[in-house]
Amino acid sequence: MERILIIGAAGQIGSELVTAMRAIHGNENVYATDIKDIPKDIKKAGPSAILDVMDDKRLIHYVIRHKITQIYHLAAVLSGNAEKLPLQAWHINMQSLMNILDLAKVVEDVKKVFWPSSIAVFGPTTPRVNTPQLTITEPSTVYGISKLAGERWCEYFYNRYDVDVRSVRYPGLISYKTEAGGGTTDYAVEIFYEAIKKGNYECFLKEDTALPMMFMEDAVNATIKLMEAPKENIKIRSSYNVGGISFAPKRITAEIKKHLPDFKITYNPDFRQPIAESWPQSIDDSQAQKDWGLETKYNITKLTDTMLEGVRTKFSSK
Ligand code: SER
Repeated sequence: MERILIIGAAGQIGSELVTAMRAIHGNENVYATDIKDIPKDIKKAGPSAILDVMDDKRLIHYVIRHKITQIYHLAAVLSGNAEKLPLQAWHINMQSLMNILDLAKVVEDVKKVFWPSSIAVFGPTTPRVNTPQLTITEPSTVYGISKLAGERWCEYFYNRYDVDVRSVRYPGLISYKTEAGGGTTDYAVEIFYEAIKKGNYECFLKEDTALPMMFMEDAVNATIKLMEAPKENIKIRSSYNVGGISFAPKRITAEIKKHLPDFKITYNPDFRQPIAESWPQSIDDSQAQKDWGLETKYNITKLTDTMLEGVRTKFSSK
């Protein structure tokens, strides 16, 4: 029986992963933790705690006390926010990962670790279309530098200490349950909220800036599939490319207009525009398909329908 610790359970990925994992492993076996308040529904359904991943002593006590067997470390400072306080973001992103890897090395019960990397490991010198698994990685953001260094550490801990740590390079993640915060791809979430609330949106990227994106359900299913795959299938111990779909603000606007013909978008690119331009437009994820069966279900039309419906329901139930 697995006993699973989710760190960052109040965040965009964590809040949905907790629910999916509880459905598989039982509510009582999935421990939802965050530095922030845990959403009420998650708190009510199973164990939870306020826990700071930077506090390595409390962390190790918690893991031992609850006999945790798998850790999902989802806490991070995202790309836009990291540029505002680079050294602090570096410290948080790196030290938190080192705390987890070091713990997994010494605590025998902990058999598997998941840590997300990002398309941000790529940079301006990377081929931007259908970006390969193995290619130039010269990130220009502090977030990207921290994710690339993290990937190297994951591979190192696997090779040196046999820590079974697994990772994917998430593209922009789109969901309506919990909003993301401070990312460059987050326009593609905000646009749905503003479309429903106000009927217009000022986009911080240019209209033709294409980026790889994925609906949260696909991202959660990919994560679960990766973690359930037999150890010997995991050939990449840094992080797997996962692509999903690729679109620019103009394209998603056209999809939204099919439902809301009066929706208006204006463009006012800010400091996140050069970040977006340094990242891939689309991703080659054939290695993930081959090694552990990555598959995605959402195209841009299904994603738009689901997001508009989800955001609408969220507002009407408030
Ligand atoms: N969605 C993230 C960001 O924009 C990329 O990993 O920061």
